[in-house]
Amino acid sequence: MRMTERITKAVIPAAGLGTRFLPATKAMPKEMLPVVDKPAIQYVVEEAVEAGLTDVLMITGRNKNALENHFDRVAELEATLVAKGDTAKLEKVNQSTDLADMHYVRQGDPLGLGHAVLRAKMHVGREPFAVLLGDDIIDARDVLLARMLEEQIARNASIVALLEVDPDSIHLYGAAAVEATDEDDVVRITGLVEKPAKEDAPSNYAVIGRYVLKPDVFDVLEHTQPGKGGEIQLTDALMEMAADVEGTGGVYGVIFRGRRYDTGDKLDYIKAVIQLAADRDDLGPELKPWLAEYVAGLGRD
Ligand code: UTP
Repeated sequence: MRMTERITKAVIPAAGLGTRFLPATKAMPKEMLPVVDKPAIQYVVEEAVEAGLTDVLMITGRNKNALENHFDRVAELEATLVAKGDTAKLEKVNQSTDLADMHYVRQGDPLGLGHAVLRAKMHVGREPFAVLLGDDIIDARDVLLARMLEEQIARNASIVALLEVDPDSIHLYGAAAVEATDEDDVVRITGLVEKPAKEDAPSNYAVIGRYVLKPDVFDVLEHTQPGKGGEIQLTDALMEMAADVEGTGGVYGVIFRGRRYDTGDKLDYIKAVIQLAADRDDLGPELKPWLAEYVAGLGRD
């Protein structure tokens, strides 16, 4: 049995500028936008905890206070709810406080996702760890992270999550060149291209915001030069690791076929709110008939 049999650390980069969501993100990180009644980031931390990761390091930027406060106690509010005997609301307040062992480090300048991940080097040490992007929500009913952790241990390689997307949207993602393995939902990554034009994309497999990485990624990121958009790209570091199978164990992709919402994108955010609200017992029964009527009305315009 290897020492790294159990992975415990999750790194959540949440230091991006969120420019696609201005002006909402002028004074608040996009990860704090509520999806129904919970900030996006809480779904992400809950997913990490559900997969057995108990130590969470968040990479924060400007406006980090709201993120830290959300996972901390709030004595005054708690005291008021206790005095009122409102245990249901108190439970909602405390839900995010006791989730995980939370740590924070600031990124300084937002020089790219690769740069944000490199900020986790000291905290993570020489163990494999998970990276979950703070604006990407994976539906809690669909399994992804647990499967990726399992494959990391089985293959002693770095793992990315892949989603098959429409060829017309591949330019929004990192696209992977892949090779089949003995497992139906796992491929070996032979190349990666960040945000390719449709005709340059090696496949329709898009890299989405979940990774389980070997600590070798830190050594690679130390010398990764700014790439697309002048940012230090995690994709570029992963590409180097994919090519160096001897040194790093290579990179594999776990193909995800479930529900995923990119809350950093306005349209996807709206879809996430509607879908998740429609599925909820407290909101769905009233929302769905209203939605059906509204949609029927659109057809009449
Ligand atoms: P995005 O590209 O979606 O974030 O990065 P962004 O730059 O905030 O987005 P827009 O385009 O301006 O709206 C993906 C993830 O990486 C984090 C973001 O917070 C997000 O979770 N990130 C990105 C950092 O932590 N630091 C960076 O320098 C860049």
